[in-house]
Amino acid sequence: MERIVCLAIGYLFGIFQTAYIYGKMNGIDIREYGSGNAGTTNALRVLGKKAGVIVLLGDVAKTVLAVVLVKVIFARTHGDMLPLLGMYAAAGAILGHNFPVQLGFRGGKGIACTAGLVLTLGPIVTILEAVTFLLTVGLTRYVSLGSILVVIELVIDIAVLGQRGYYGMSQGHLLEFYLVCTALSLMAIYRHRTNIKRLLSGTENKIFQKK
Ligand code: G3P
Repeated sequence: MERIVCLAIGYLFGIFQTAYIYGKMNGIDIREYGSGNAGTTNALRVLGKKAGVIVLLGDVAKTVLAVVLVKVIFARTHGDMLPLLGMYAAAGAILGHNFPVQLGFRGGKGIACTAGLVLTLGPIVTILEAVTFLLTVGLTRYVSLGSILVVIELVIDIAVLGQRGYYGMSQGHLLEFYLVCTALSLMAIYRHRTNIKRLLSGTENKIFQKK
């Protein structure tokens, strides 16, 4: 039951669709422009740097807030499985972001939300993920490639750290923690399927390149 509550809390935070709201404040539906994605990269592409920063901060913050709220709510009763409940809250936020009910379930790809999840997983994961993302985007200019690599790496990072006792949960909870994260990673890759096609055909948009 607590897992469903965490997913639901996360979902309610996730449907705060920053890119869509910012787009509407500027007179457009962001989903009709650029890549059609309601996320940070497309906001940057279509509406400029300020929009990119605001959308990034909004989407990271809503995920962090969902995870923190869930951890506060369950700290006393479920202290032994807080990282897992935090993962469910982040999963809810990513689902809400990607499939917002009020927008006909057409949202984003969940990468800024995943960055919010990463921040809640501690400094080691955050540094590893940031290095991978910045190096990939810095070298290739493909945000989508950086996004795909970090969601794959995230599963590996938490598996290694989890086995070293970093999250302090039972093996059963740890396994579930990995499985939820793996499902999120697979969903993110699936959401990037058109990006992957463009990457393979050499037609993917590069950052700061207008479409
Ligand atoms: O976070 C989404 C990014 O990886 C790709 O965005 O707009 O180029 O499809 P976009």
